[in-house]
Amino acid sequence: MAKTLEVTDLCKTYITNKRQNNVLRNVNFSVDKGDMVAVMGPSGSGKSTLLYTVSGMDSMTAGTVLFG
Ligand SMILES: Nc1ncnc2c1ncn2[C@@H]1O[C@H](COP(=O)(O)OP(=O)(O)OP(=O)(O)O)[C@@H](O)[C@H]1O
Ligand SMILES: [Mg+2]
Repeated sequence: MAKTLEVTDLCKTYITNKRQNNVLRNVNFSVDKGDMVAVMGPSGSGKSTLLYTVSGMDSMTAGTVLFG
């Protein structure tokens, strides 16, 4: 099946008051064309951060996102 989204080694670190918060550490996944995907996890685990970075609404610290 053709991939429509490929995320490789995605990292996102927030720095607040000189404290480093490594929210996403080397996240890897791909989504096949036509698939529906749900993001699940406890509050504060990084679901919104994942969506913001993968969509380009926020910057990544490291990694690549290939879409389409
Ligand atoms: N803009 C920001 N600046 C600094 N830290 C942030 C920022 N946004 C999120 N964080 C931190 O990143 C971590 C993940 O937050 P995120 O909002 O992605 O979690 P979530 O899984 O979407 O939570 P929820 O289920 O409550 O929506 C938390 O520790 C949060 O405090
Ligand atoms: Mg959220």
